[in-house]
Amino acid sequence: MATPHINAADGAFAETVLMPGDPLRAQYIAENFLENAERVTDVRNMFGYTGTYKGKKVSVMGHGMGIPSCSIYVHELIKDYGVKNIIRVGSCGAVKDDVKLMDVIVAQGASTDSKVNRTRFANHDFAAISDFHLLETAVGEARKQNVSVRVGNVFSADLFYSPEADLFNTMDKLGILAVDMEAAGIYGVAAELGARALTILTVSDHIIRGEALSSDERQKSFNEMMTVSLETAIN
Ligand code: ADE
Repeated sequence: MATPHINAADGAFAETVLMPGDPLRAQYIAENFLENAERVTDVRNMFGYTGTYKGKKVSVMGHGMGIPSCSIYVHELIKDYGVKNIIRVGSCGAVKDDVKLMDVIVAQGASTDSKVNRTRFANHDFAAISDFHLLETAVGEARKQNVSVRVGNVFSADLFYSPEADLFNTMDKLGILAVDMEAAGIYGVAAELGARALTILTVSDHIIRGEALSSDERQKSFNEMMTVSLETAIN
């Protein structure tokens, strides 16, 4: 049954949904990486597609920017469409000195300044972690494909334009690899509803060093991340 934000038919989604932030990225993935992909939802132009990868059913859908947006889509996919595995495929800004542009980061856990997981957990700290099976599979795939991969803690920020510049240095000291805006929220929804989740990120910029990828480099590292993510989705 359709939900307030997804108008797909019952059974339209695969058990595993890959989720970029941008719905046009979802379309790009469907058109360039999946076979026989069909659009299954288009509410607010937040496109979702289902097709196959190496013969196995896989879906891809945008989740928008920030924890409030992605939490809505991930919640409805799991609760109303029976989705079992969510793999976010996004970009991040590195903070740790030894993280390089083009690295792929697998978010083992996600810290955050968002209150959503405290709201879920009687105001206690919830360790927002990825599913170990998906994590292990993604890291194995990255190594097999010779992709430069880092595994660790990320920080899911509510504010892209943060006034707290010092916090990035503290993150670096605490071993946080990079900043995104969704992983901690997605891990919280998955834990609440009993699904598996993983976030895989390309490093599009280095926040402390002020570096950024060119658009060609962005595309190349996105494609590398996609092959790792799709192999993870079907294994
Ligand atoms: N995604 C890509 N770069 C980012 C940044 N600098 N902060 C938060 N999310 C990001």
